[in-house]
Amino acid sequence: MQIVHQTPSVDLTTSSPRDIAADLLVIPIFDTDALADLPDLLSALNDATDGEIDAARGRGEFKGKPYELFLTTLRGWQTGRVALVGLGPKKEFAPDRLRRAAITGALAARNRGMTRIAIVHRPDTGVGADLAAQLFAEGAVIGNYDGASYRTTDPPRVWLASVTIAVADRTAGERVLERGRVLGESTNVARALANEPGNALTPRVFADRAAALAREAGLSVEVLDETKIGDLKMGLLLGVARGSAEPPRLVVLRHEPTGAPKGPVLGLIGKGVTFDTGGISIKPAENMDKMKDDMSGGAAVLGAMMAIARLKAPVRCVAVIPMTENMPGGRAVKPGDVLTSAEGKTVEILNTDAEGRLVLGDAVWYARQLGATHLVDVATLTGACVVALGKTTTGLFGTPDSWVEQVRKASDRAGDRSWPMPVWDDYKELFKSEIADFGNTGGRAGGAITGALFIKEFIGELPWVHMDIAGTAWAEEAKPYQPKGATGVAVRTLAELALDPAAWNKI
Ligand code: BES
Ligand code: MN
Ligand code: ZN
Repeated sequence: MQIVHQTPSVDLTTSSPRDIAADLLVIPIFDTDALADLPDLLSALNDATDGEIDAARGRGEFKGKPYELFLTTLRGWQTGRVALVGLGPKKEFAPDRLRRAAITGALAARNRGMTRIAIVHRPDTGVGADLAAQLFAEGAVIGNYDGASYRTTDPPRVWLASVTIAVADRTAGERVLERGRVLGESTNVARALANEPGNALTPRVFADRAAALAREAGLSVEVLDETKIGDLKMGLLLGVARGSAEPPRLVVLRHEPTGAPKGPVLGLIGKGVTFDTGGISIKPAENMDKMKDDMSGGAAVLGAMMAIARLKAPVRCVAVIPMTENMPGGRAVKPGDVLTSAEGKTVEILNTDAEGRLVLGDAVWYARQLGATHLVDVATLTGACVVALGKTTTGLFGTPDSWVEQVRKASDRAGDRSWPMPVWDDYKELFKSEIADFGNTGGRAGGAITGALFIKEFIGELPWVHMDIAGTAWAEEAKPYQPKGATGVAVRTLAELALDPAAWNKI
């Protein structure tokens, strides 16, 4: 695998922006900013640019809309170029805008061949120096990523070497920088894996990579091969894997911090379908190539567990990642076949393309066997969720509502947008079967909900949330803060959840 991200050195300074030596000074700007609102900094900048900033605002070239960029030259400062990055209106402000402004600045620098950036925090955002430092560090690291490229003609990549964050005081220092760096790096690890082609990242390769990365982060690792999966009688996972020449894997990761109480145990489960052809119910050719990202949930769980270990989250966690291809080989599962899950429930396969819920059914059951008390699964599960919520919002499904709300709040802190959807039992009759306990599909209506309710059949009595990231795992359009490709969605949500167990351990 190629190097597709690098972590720059990240430092704090309390120096005045004029005295910081870098290639590019990144300054977030509200759309309402007049010279009067930021008297010192903006008027100094205006002087150093011979009035260029005022002039650009005057002619409407730069309005300060979210993530809008304006670059110009500074005279007499240690840094020769400045990038103003729009924050939008002050009344719409949320801390995530700082993270995204940092990503925008980092990408802008790299696109122009610059490797040393400095980002200036402004206290009038209402965000304290500690959180700002974390968000800037996180954003700069997330901006230091490029999707895998197998193009032989690509010029060498430009990587950020250093990031300097200018704050008013540096009380928390290294601790918040480490948090930002680790959350950014873990996001990039997940993105790098999801960008890999299906022939490069088969279930066996995915399992090997996951094991190596997890060990390096300090997690304990177990990789179950097809024999062990068979011993556990995971008929749903084996059923999906039958059509492929590549054997399945099940990766189990554990974070057991010394001194942590016995419970709660956070159980994270991620769909790791390394390529989804649909199987015998084969998908149309158009866009099928995108189905290499059908392991994004598994990659997110791996990334989150790495962050959890490296940041020493004060709670036990266990992760289960089922890995397989969904292929239409001669031994493939067929519509009408009945499979028996590890738990003993029987499932009639009505559509072999609804494979995610099958592998997750066995995996969430296994997370329960391993002692999880609170479950979150992450999966590129349904096209219906993309229809319902679009490409920027993850669907949240689960019970009880208080647990769903905890995950939603964590996603808010993480800058991963998500929104709750209902899981009322009324929908269960949609996936009845004439011959088995239930079928694996419920038709078009409410497709994201019936997918979630299928997984619910395997969670027993535990608090559980399902995150459907079918829309959010992959960006089709480039934005200033998000290049096309894998997004790493859910990595930071899950990490945030584990970093603050006091918020939910009574649920
Ligand atoms: N991996 C797909 C879901 C998906 C679709 C992810 C589009 C990203 C973009 C999943 O395995 C699938 O095929 N789901 C089916 C379910 C249906 C057969 C009930 C779907 O959404 O069409
Ligand atoms: Mn499918
Ligand atoms: Zn799938």
